[in-house]
Amino acid sequence: MSRALTAANVAAVTLFIGFSVARHAPLEIFPAAWRKMLIRWRKAHSQRASSNAAQDSASVVSLGRAHPYDTAAGEATFKAWPAFNGDTKLAHTAGITRRQRLEVRPPLDSLFAGTSLRCRLSYALAERRALDRKEFFETFEFMEQARVSLRCGRGCRTCVECAGGHGLLGILLAVLEPARFDRVLVTDRRRPASFGVILDAAAAVAGPAVRERVRFEEVDFAAALLPTGCAVVCVHGCNSLTDKVIARAVAAEAESLAVMPCCYAHSEASQLAPAALRKGVGVALAADVQRTYTLEAAGFAVSWRHIPSAITPMNRVLVARRRSGVGDSPLAAQSALHESAAVDVIAHPEPCASVNRTKQA
Ligand SMILES: C[S@@+](CC[C@H](N)C(=O)[O-])C[C@H]1O[C@@H](n2cnc3c(N)ncnc32)[C@H](O)[C@@H]1O
Repeated sequence: MSRALTAANVAAVTLFIGFSVARHAPLEIFPAAWRKMLIRWRKAHSQRASSNAAQDSASVVSLGRAHPYDTAAGEATFKAWPAFNGDTKLAHTAGITRRQRLEVRPPLDSLFAGTSLRCRLSYALAERRALDRKEFFETFEFMEQARVSLRCGRGCRTCVECAGGHGLLGILLAVLEPARFDRVLVTDRRRPASFGVILDAAAAVAGPAVRERVRFEEVDFAAALLPTGCAVVCVHGCNSLTDKVIARAVAAEAESLAVMPCCYAHSEASQLAPAALRKGVGVALAADVQRTYTLEAAGFAVSWRHIPSAITPMNRVLVARRRSGVGDSPLAAQSALHESAAVDVIAHPEPCASVNRTKQA
Protein backbone atom coordinates (compact mmCIF):
# COMPACT_ATOMS: atom_id res chain seq x y z
CA MET A 1 0.00 0.00 0.00
CA SER A 2 2.71 2.47 1.08
CA ARG A 3 4.82 1.46 -1.97
CA ALA A 4 1.90 2.21 -4.24
CA LEU A 5 1.48 5.59 -2.53
CA THR A 6 5.18 6.40 -2.92
CA ALA A 7 5.04 5.46 -6.61
CA ALA A 8 1.97 7.66 -7.06
CA ASN A 9 3.75 10.56 -5.32
CA VAL A 10 6.85 10.15 -7.50
CA ALA A 11 4.67 10.02 -10.62
CA ALA A 12 2.76 13.15 -9.56
CA VAL A 13 5.97 15.09 -8.83
CA THR A 14 7.53 13.94 -12.12
CA LEU A 15 4.41 14.98 -14.01
CA PHE A 16 4.39 18.38 -12.29
CA ILE A 17 8.07 19.02 -13.05
CA GLY A 18 7.61 17.86 -16.66
CA PHE A 19 4.61 20.15 -17.08
CA SER A 20 6.43 23.15 -15.57
CA VAL A 21 9.50 22.61 -17.75
CA ALA A 22 7.36 22.23 -20.89
CA ARG A 23 5.39 25.35 -19.99
CA HIS A 24 8.12 27.73 -18.83
CA ALA A 25 11.62 26.59 -19.81
CA PRO A 26 13.39 28.42 -22.68
CA LEU A 27 12.65 26.76 -26.00
CA GLU A 28 16.36 26.37 -26.81
CA ILE A 29 16.72 23.50 -24.36
CA PHE A 30 14.32 21.34 -26.38
CA PRO A 31 15.16 19.49 -29.60
CA ALA A 32 14.34 21.64 -32.65
CA ALA A 33 11.68 19.14 -33.79
CA TRP A 34 9.68 19.69 -30.56
CA ARG A 35 9.69 23.48 -30.54
CA LYS A 36 6.83 24.16 -32.96
CA MET A 37 4.63 21.72 -31.11
CA LEU A 38 5.58 23.29 -27.77
CA ILE A 39 4.79 26.83 -28.98
CA ARG A 40 1.35 25.65 -30.15
CA TRP A 41 0.73 23.86 -26.86
CA ARG A 42 1.86 26.85 -24.76
CA LYS A 43 -0.38 29.16 -26.74
CA ALA A 44 -3.38 26.83 -26.38
CA HIS A 45 -2.66 26.50 -22.66
CA SER A 46 -2.49 30.29 -22.21
CA GLN A 47 -5.72 30.78 -24.17
CA ARG A 48 -7.47 28.13 -22.08
CA ALA A 49 -6.27 29.81 -18.91
CA SER A 50 -7.47 33.21 -20.14
CA SER A 51 -10.88 31.95 -21.16
CA ASN A 52 -11.34 30.08 -17.87
CA ALA A 53 -10.49 33.29 -16.05
CA ALA A 54 -12.93 35.27 -18.16
CA GLN A 55 -15.72 32.76 -17.55
CA ASP A 56 -15.22 33.00 -13.83
CA SER A 57 -14.93 36.72 -13.47
CA ALA A 58 -16.13 36.61 -9.87
CA SER A 59 -13.13 34.53 -8.92
CA VAL A 60 -10.16 35.18 -11.15
CA VAL A 61 -7.78 33.17 -9.06
CA SER A 62 -7.84 29.42 -9.13
CA LEU A 63 -7.98 27.61 -5.84
CA GLY A 64 -5.06 25.53 -4.74
CA ARG A 65 -1.38 26.33 -5.02
CA ALA A 66 -0.50 28.22 -8.16
CA HIS A 67 2.80 28.10 -9.97
CA PRO A 68 4.81 31.14 -8.83
CA TYR A 69 5.10 32.44 -12.36
CA ASP A 70 1.63 31.52 -13.52
CA THR A 71 0.47 34.10 -16.02
CA ALA A 72 -3.15 32.92 -16.19
CA ALA A 73 -5.44 35.74 -17.33
CA GLY A 74 -2.34 37.68 -18.24
CA GLU A 75 -2.13 37.00 -21.93
CA ALA A 76 -1.87 39.77 -24.48
CA THR A 77 -1.63 40.19 -28.19
CA PHE A 78 1.28 41.88 -29.93
CA LYS A 79 0.73 45.62 -30.14
CA ALA A 80 3.99 46.84 -31.59
CA TRP A 81 4.27 43.95 -34.06
CA PRO A 82 0.69 42.82 -34.76
CA ALA A 83 1.83 40.61 -37.65
CA PHE A 84 2.69 37.98 -35.03
CA ASN A 85 -0.86 37.73 -33.75
CA GLY A 86 -2.35 34.36 -34.59
CA ASP A 87 0.68 33.46 -36.66
CA THR A 88 2.85 31.25 -34.50
CA LYS A 89 4.77 30.19 -37.59
CA LEU A 90 5.84 33.76 -38.28
CA ALA A 91 6.63 34.34 -34.59
CA HIS A 92 8.64 31.13 -34.53
CA THR A 93 10.50 31.98 -37.74
CA ALA A 94 11.27 35.40 -36.34
CA GLY A 95 12.61 33.57 -33.30
CA ILE A 96 11.03 35.81 -30.72
CA THR A 97 11.62 33.30 -27.95
CA ARG A 98 15.10 32.40 -29.06
CA ARG A 99 18.36 33.78 -27.74
CA GLN A 100 19.57 34.91 -31.13
CA ARG A 101 20.76 38.22 -32.46
CA LEU A 102 18.36 40.47 -34.26
CA GLU A 103 19.40 40.33 -37.91
CA VAL A 104 18.28 41.48 -41.32
CA ARG A 105 17.05 38.24 -42.80
CA PRO A 106 13.65 36.72 -43.59
CA PRO A 107 11.08 37.24 -42.25
CA LEU A 108 12.37 40.19 -40.21
CA ASP A 109 13.72 42.01 -43.28
CA SER A 110 10.20 42.41 -44.68
CA LEU A 111 8.74 43.11 -41.24
CA PHE A 112 11.10 46.10 -40.89
CA ALA A 113 11.03 47.26 -44.51
CA GLY A 114 8.49 50.08 -44.02
CA THR A 115 9.34 53.77 -44.12
CA SER A 116 8.02 54.69 -40.66
CA LEU A 117 10.54 55.76 -38.03
CA ARG A 118 9.76 52.59 -36.10
CA CYS A 119 10.55 50.36 -39.08
CA ARG A 120 13.69 52.28 -40.04
CA LEU A 121 15.01 52.18 -36.50
CA SER A 122 14.28 48.45 -36.24
CA TYR A 123 16.05 47.83 -39.54
CA ALA A 124 19.06 49.86 -38.39
CA LEU A 125 19.22 47.81 -35.18
CA ALA A 126 18.96 44.53 -37.10
CA GLU A 127 21.61 45.69 -39.57
CA ARG A 128 23.99 46.26 -36.66
CA ARG A 129 23.00 43.03 -34.86
CA ALA A 130 22.65 45.35 -31.89
CA LEU A 131 20.90 43.00 -29.45
CA ASP A 132 19.00 39.72 -29.02
CA ARG A 133 15.69 39.30 -30.80
CA LYS A 134 13.96 38.48 -27.54
CA GLU A 135 15.19 41.69 -25.93
CA PHE A 136 14.14 43.67 -28.99
CA PHE A 137 10.55 42.38 -29.09
CA GLU A 138 10.22 42.45 -25.30
CA THR A 139 11.27 46.10 -25.14
CA PHE A 140 9.08 47.17 -28.06
CA GLU A 141 5.99 45.46 -26.66
CA PHE A 142 6.62 46.92 -23.19
CA MET A 143 7.02 50.39 -24.64
CA GLU A 144 3.82 50.05 -26.63
CA GLN A 145 1.90 49.10 -23.48
CA ALA A 146 3.34 51.92 -21.38
CA ARG A 147 4.09 54.88 -23.62
CA VAL A 148 0.78 56.76 -23.58
CA SER A 149 0.57 56.51 -19.79
CA LEU A 150 4.03 57.91 -19.22
CA ARG A 151 4.23 61.59 -18.44
CA CYS A 152 6.25 64.03 -16.37
CA GLY A 153 5.11 66.76 -14.01
CA ARG A 154 6.37 69.84 -12.14
CA GLY A 155 8.29 71.25 -15.08
CA CYS A 156 10.29 68.04 -15.45
CA ARG A 157 10.74 66.51 -18.92
CA THR A 158 12.96 63.57 -18.02
CA CYS A 159 12.32 59.85 -18.27
CA VAL A 160 14.59 57.61 -16.21
CA GLU A 161 15.16 54.02 -17.27
CA CYS A 162 16.37 52.11 -14.21
CA ALA A 163 18.59 49.02 -14.59
CA GLY A 164 18.34 49.66 -18.32
CA GLY A 165 21.14 47.36 -19.48
CA HIS A 166 21.28 47.83 -23.27
CA GLY A 167 19.04 50.90 -22.85
CA LEU A 168 16.83 50.22 -25.86
CA LEU A 169 13.70 51.23 -23.95
CA GLY A 170 15.07 54.66 -23.04
CA ILE A 171 16.36 55.22 -26.55
CA LEU A 172 13.02 54.20 -28.08
CA LEU A 173 11.19 56.65 -25.82
CA ALA A 174 13.63 59.42 -26.75
CA VAL A 175 13.14 58.75 -30.47
CA LEU A 176 9.43 57.96 -30.56
CA GLU A 177 8.16 60.22 -27.77
CA PRO A 178 10.02 63.54 -28.18
CA ALA A 179 6.85 65.44 -27.24
CA ARG A 180 6.82 63.78 -23.81
CA PHE A 181 10.51 63.71 -22.96
CA ASP A 182 13.36 66.15 -23.62
CA ARG A 183 15.83 63.94 -21.81
CA VAL A 184 16.19 60.25 -21.09
CA LEU A 185 18.52 58.98 -18.41
CA VAL A 186 19.48 55.30 -18.61
CA THR A 187 21.00 53.97 -15.42
CA ASP A 188 22.68 50.64 -14.77
CA ARG A 189 25.69 49.61 -12.77
CA ARG A 190 27.30 48.41 -15.99
CA ARG A 191 27.19 50.06 -19.40
CA PRO A 192 27.16 47.27 -22.01
CA ALA A 193 28.68 47.77 -25.48
CA SER A 194 25.22 47.26 -27.00
CA PHE A 195 24.08 50.63 -25.60
CA GLY A 196 26.52 52.47 -27.89
CA VAL A 197 25.50 50.37 -30.90
CA ILE A 198 21.79 51.05 -30.27
CA LEU A 199 22.43 54.77 -29.85
CA ASP A 200 24.40 54.79 -33.13
CA ALA A 201 21.44 53.19 -34.89
CA ALA A 202 19.06 55.74 -33.36
CA ALA A 203 21.29 58.66 -34.37
CA ALA A 204 21.59 57.31 -37.92
CA VAL A 205 17.81 57.20 -38.26
CA ALA A 206 16.52 60.03 -36.06
CA GLY A 207 19.44 62.43 -36.33
CA PRO A 208 22.49 63.17 -34.15
CA ALA A 209 20.49 65.30 -31.68
CA VAL A 210 19.28 62.11 -30.04
CA ARG A 211 22.79 61.66 -28.61
CA GLU A 212 22.33 64.88 -26.64
CA ARG A 213 18.99 63.74 -25.30
CA VAL A 214 20.01 60.28 -24.02
CA ARG A 215 22.58 59.85 -21.26
CA PHE A 216 23.84 56.63 -19.71
CA GLU A 217 24.85 56.80 -16.07
CA GLU A 218 26.93 53.86 -14.92
CA VAL A 219 25.90 53.83 -11.30
CA ASP A 220 24.45 51.59 -8.64
CA PHE A 221 20.76 52.29 -8.56
CA ALA A 222 20.92 53.29 -4.89
CA ALA A 223 23.10 56.26 -5.90
CA ALA A 224 21.15 57.34 -9.00
CA LEU A 225 19.45 60.71 -8.80
CA LEU A 226 15.86 60.80 -9.96
CA PRO A 227 14.60 64.29 -10.84
CA THR A 228 11.40 65.35 -9.08
CA GLY A 229 8.34 64.77 -11.27
CA CYS A 230 10.11 62.45 -13.72
CA ALA A 231 8.71 59.37 -15.45
CA VAL A 232 10.32 56.08 -14.40
CA VAL A 233 10.54 52.83 -16.35
CA CYS A 234 12.17 49.51 -15.55
CA VAL A 235 12.04 46.23 -17.45
CA HIS A 236 12.90 43.09 -15.50
CA GLY A 237 14.45 44.63 -12.44
CA CYS A 238 15.43 41.37 -10.75
CA ASN A 239 14.36 40.34 -7.26
CA SER A 240 13.86 43.42 -5.09
CA LEU A 241 15.25 45.84 -7.66
CA THR A 242 11.72 46.53 -8.87
CA ASP A 243 10.69 47.32 -5.28
CA LYS A 244 13.64 49.69 -4.91
CA VAL A 245 12.69 51.38 -8.18
CA ILE A 246 9.14 51.84 -6.90
CA ALA A 247 10.43 53.24 -3.59
CA ARG A 248 12.78 55.67 -5.36
CA ALA A 249 10.05 56.74 -7.78
CA VAL A 250 7.71 57.45 -4.86
CA ALA A 251 10.44 59.38 -3.03
CA ALA A 252 11.20 61.44 -6.16
CA GLU A 253 7.50 62.23 -6.51
CA ALA A 254 7.60 60.70 -9.97
CA GLU A 255 4.60 61.54 -12.09
CA SER A 256 4.36 58.10 -13.69
CA LEU A 257 5.98 54.71 -13.54
CA ALA A 258 5.93 51.51 -15.60
CA VAL A 259 7.67 48.34 -14.46
CA MET A 260 7.71 44.74 -15.64
CA PRO A 261 9.03 42.76 -12.65
CA CYS A 262 10.89 39.43 -12.73
CA CYS A 263 12.61 36.95 -10.38
CA TYR A 264 9.82 37.23 -7.87
CA ALA A 265 10.75 34.55 -5.37
CA HIS A 266 13.09 36.63 -3.19
CA SER A 267 11.61 40.03 -3.77
CA GLU A 268 10.69 42.35 -0.92
CA ALA A 269 7.12 42.55 -2.21
CA SER A 270 6.70 38.79 -2.13
CA GLN A 271 7.97 38.67 1.47
CA LEU A 272 5.57 41.44 2.44
CA ALA A 273 2.55 39.83 0.76
CA PRO A 274 0.28 37.79 3.04
CA ALA A 275 1.16 34.09 3.13
CA ALA A 276 -2.41 33.23 2.13
CA LEU A 277 -1.99 35.18 -1.09
CA ARG A 278 1.41 33.64 -1.82
CA LYS A 279 0.02 30.16 -1.36
CA GLY A 280 -3.30 30.80 -3.03
CA VAL A 281 -2.35 32.70 -6.13
CA GLY A 282 1.41 32.18 -6.34
CA VAL A 283 4.35 34.33 -5.33
CA ALA A 284 4.43 36.41 -8.50
CA LEU A 285 0.81 37.48 -8.43
CA ALA A 286 0.95 38.08 -4.66
CA ALA A 287 4.05 40.28 -5.07
CA ASP A 288 2.44 42.39 -7.78
CA VAL A 289 -0.75 42.77 -5.75
CA GLN A 290 1.43 43.99 -2.87
CA ARG A 291 3.22 46.44 -5.20
CA THR A 292 -0.11 47.70 -6.45
CA TYR A 293 -1.29 48.44 -2.90
CA THR A 294 2.01 50.19 -2.18
CA LEU A 295 1.63 52.43 -5.23
CA GLU A 296 -2.05 53.15 -4.61
CA ALA A 297 -1.25 54.11 -1.03
CA ALA A 298 1.45 56.46 -2.33
CA GLY A 299 -1.10 58.32 -4.46
CA PHE A 300 -0.88 56.52 -7.80
CA ALA A 301 -3.63 55.03 -9.92
CA VAL A 302 -2.37 51.64 -11.08
CA SER A 303 -3.32 49.49 -14.02
CA TRP A 304 -2.02 46.11 -15.11
CA ARG A 305 -1.11 45.33 -18.68
CA HIS A 306 0.74 42.45 -20.29
CA ILE A 307 3.03 41.71 -23.16
CA PRO A 308 2.65 38.39 -25.03
CA SER A 309 3.83 35.47 -22.92
CA ALA A 310 5.39 34.00 -26.07
CA ILE A 311 8.18 36.53 -25.47
CA THR A 312 8.51 36.01 -21.73
CA PRO A 313 6.42 34.48 -18.95
CA MET A 314 7.44 37.47 -16.79
CA ASN A 315 5.06 39.60 -18.78
CA ARG A 316 3.02 41.67 -16.34
CA VAL A 317 3.40 45.44 -16.69
CA LEU A 318 2.43 47.63 -13.75
CA VAL A 319 1.61 51.12 -14.94
CA ALA A 320 1.14 53.85 -12.33
CA ARG A 321 0.14 57.47 -12.76
CA ARG A 322 0.05 60.04 -9.99
CA ARG A 323 -3.50 61.01 -9.09
CA SER A 324 -3.81 64.75 -9.16
CA GLY A 325 -5.95 66.68 -6.70
CA VAL A 326 -7.49 63.55 -5.32
CA GLY A 327 -8.00 63.21 -1.60
CA ASP A 328 -8.12 60.00 0.32
CA SER A 329 -11.80 59.34 -0.29
CA PRO A 330 -12.26 55.96 -2.00
CA LEU A 331 -14.92 57.51 -4.28
CA ALA A 332 -12.54 60.18 -5.51
CA ALA A 333 -9.79 57.63 -5.97
CA GLN A 334 -12.15 55.42 -7.94
CA SER A 335 -13.18 58.21 -10.26
CA ALA A 336 -9.52 59.05 -10.86
CA LEU A 337 -8.98 55.42 -11.85
CA HIS A 338 -11.86 55.59 -14.32
CA GLU A 339 -10.51 58.84 -15.66
CA SER A 340 -7.08 57.33 -16.19
CA ALA A 341 -8.58 54.25 -17.87
CA ALA A 342 -10.41 56.55 -20.30
CA VAL A 343 -7.23 58.44 -21.13
CA ASP A 344 -5.22 55.25 -21.48
CA VAL A 345 -6.40 54.47 -24.95
CA ILE A 346 -3.33 52.79 -26.37
CA ALA A 347 -2.10 54.55 -29.46
CA HIS A 348 -2.05 52.20 -32.38
CA PRO A 349 1.50 51.93 -33.63
CA GLU A 350 2.34 53.39 -37.00
CA PRO A 351 1.53 50.70 -39.54
CA CYS A 352 4.54 49.04 -41.05
CA ALA A 353 4.06 49.00 -44.80
CA SER A 354 5.98 45.78 -44.88
CA VAL A 355 3.67 43.71 -42.72
CA ASN A 356 2.40 41.80 -45.67
CA ARG A 357 2.45 38.13 -45.11
CA THR A 358 0.94 37.23 -48.50
CA LYS A 359 4.06 38.73 -50.03
CA GLN A 360 6.23 36.40 -48.02
CA ALA A 361 4.27 33.29 -48.90
C1 LIG B 1 17.56 41.36 -16.10
S1 LIG B 1 18.58 42.72 -16.46
C2 LIG B 1 17.45 43.78 -17.30
C3 LIG B 1 18.15 44.74 -18.19
C4 LIG B 1 17.22 45.53 -19.13
N1 LIG B 1 16.30 46.34 -18.38
C5 LIG B 1 16.51 44.60 -20.07
O1 LIG B 1 15.29 44.56 -20.08
O2 LIG B 1 17.18 43.91 -20.82
C6 LIG B 1 18.83 43.48 -14.93
C7 LIG B 1 19.76 44.67 -14.98
O3 LIG B 1 19.79 45.25 -13.69
C8 LIG B 1 21.08 45.76 -13.47
N2 LIG B 1 21.24 45.92 -12.02
C9 LIG B 1 21.09 44.98 -11.07
N3 LIG B 1 21.28 45.50 -9.84
C10 LIG B 1 21.54 46.83 -10.02
C11 LIG B 1 21.82 47.91 -9.15
N4 LIG B 1 21.87 47.74 -7.84
N5 LIG B 1 22.02 49.13 -9.68
C12 LIG B 1 21.97 49.31 -11.02
N6 LIG B 1 21.70 48.33 -11.90
C13 LIG B 1 21.50 47.09 -11.41
C14 LIG B 1 22.00 44.73 -14.09
O4 LIG B 1 23.27 45.27 -14.39
C15 LIG B 1 21.19 44.35 -15.34
O5 LIG B 1 21.58 45.13 -16.44
